[in-house]
Formats: sequence, C-alpha cells, structure tokens
Amino acid sequence: MDSHWDRYCLDPKVEYNFAQVFGRDAPLFVEIGFGNGESLARMAAANPDKDYIGIEVHRPGVGHLLMLLNQQGLNNVRIYCHDAIEIMEHKVADHSLAGVHLFFPDPWPKKKHHKRRIVRPGFVDLLVRKLKPGGYFHAATDWENYAEAMLAVLSESSRLKNTSPTNDYCQCPEYRPLTKFEQRGLRLGHGVWDLIFIKK
Ligand SMILES: C[S@@+](CC[C@H](N)C(=O)[O-])C[C@H]1O[C@@H](n2cnc3c(N)ncnc32)[C@H](O)[C@@H]1O
Repeated sequence: MDSHWDRYCLDPKVEYNFAQVFGRDAPLFVEIGFGNGESLARMAAANPDKDYIGIEVHRPGVGHLLMLLNQQGLNNVRIYCHDAIEIMEHKVADHSLAGVHLFFPDPWPKKKHHKRRIVRPGFVDLLVRKLKPGGYFHAATDWENYAEAMLAVLSESSRLKNTSPTNDYCQCPEYRPLTKFEQRGLRLGHGVWDLIFIKK
C-alpha cells in the first residue's frame, strides 16, 4: 500500500479526466467490487488496448491488486478504494464507459437483506447514464435468485438490450476470468449465471 498507492490509486475528492490519467483515449471499463483483483489484473494484462478503473472498499483486496499491478508492470488500471456508487455517481462522466463489470457481488441471501443488493432500479438508471451507447453491463453471480432479480430489473429498462439469445443468461465470455468468489461458489456446488446487457 505504501509503495504503490500513489501510482495506481485515485483520490475520491479529486476531479479527474481519465484520458489524462491514462495518457490516452482508450475504451474505459469499470469493475465494481474487484475483490482481490486477480481477475481484473488478468483482464487488464490480456487487453492492453483498454483502460480499467477498479472500485473496491476492501483495503486488503486493494493491496493485493496493487502488488499484482506492480509485479506485472500494468499501466492500464487505476483504483478507487471507495464506495462504487459514489464514484460512479460523482466521478465518472455520463456516457463515458465502454463497459461495467460486476462479478459476484455480495449476494445478501436472506430475504430481509435483499434491499442491500447493489443491483436495484436506481443502480440500473445509473448504469444507463454512465454507459456509452453500445457499451455493456456484465454481471455474474452464483446465487440463482439474485440472477433472477437482476434479470428482472435489467429487462425492465427500455434503454438496455439483453445480449442473451434466449433473452435470459449468457455463456461466460472468454474475456471474463474465473474469480476467487466464483471458485468458492463452484466448490460449494453453486451454478453460475452471466448477464450481459447493451445500452441502446
Ligand atoms: C462477493 S465479493 C466478490 C469479489 C470479486 N469480484 C470476486 O468475484 O472474487 C464482493 C466484493 O464487492 C465489494 N463491494 C461491496 N459493495 C461495494 C461498494 N459499494 N463499493 C465497492 N466495493 C464493494 C466487497 O468489498 C467485496 O470485495
């Protein structure tokens, strides 16, 4: 954290022009809740022509990603250690994102906690505002009833189009690496549901 914070972490109080931060105008992706960052680092390494902003509140996860970015000399990732909704609302320009990734968000399995889930109608409005036309939102979860709830709320938006040929879930695309939480879910015998919607 001490050695690499300044190189990779962004200050939530500062207004940035991300093209200036990255020194180029490349397609920009946000990953919300990257966990330990292993899959974000893998994606960034595989796509040097794209830029990534990872947002995560869990400091040890941020530390782990800092280590990976430094070890691999990656320059196409920046990090906010802050609440993703606040960053998306206030620091990301409208119609600026090529994609938003939300891989294995906290499932809040108890019914009384469902209101804490990140994908809700207000979140969908925020996504629609921040994505460019043609940009996409990709979520994955290992909780079937969260997948069903996401499918319902995303399908309700007239500004988003489901890319699934069956109008529900997608095959996991090649660009999405296996994540730590996904591996844990698979060990527990959970299924995995990917949802990919494009902004019209
Ligand atoms: C279940 S974990 C999944 C982590 C990772 N994507 C994976 O698949 O291994 C969910 C992550 O989202 C983060 N998170 C939850 N709410 C957040 C928020 N509002 N802003 C940023 N990160 C958040 C948590 O700290 C946690 O690391």
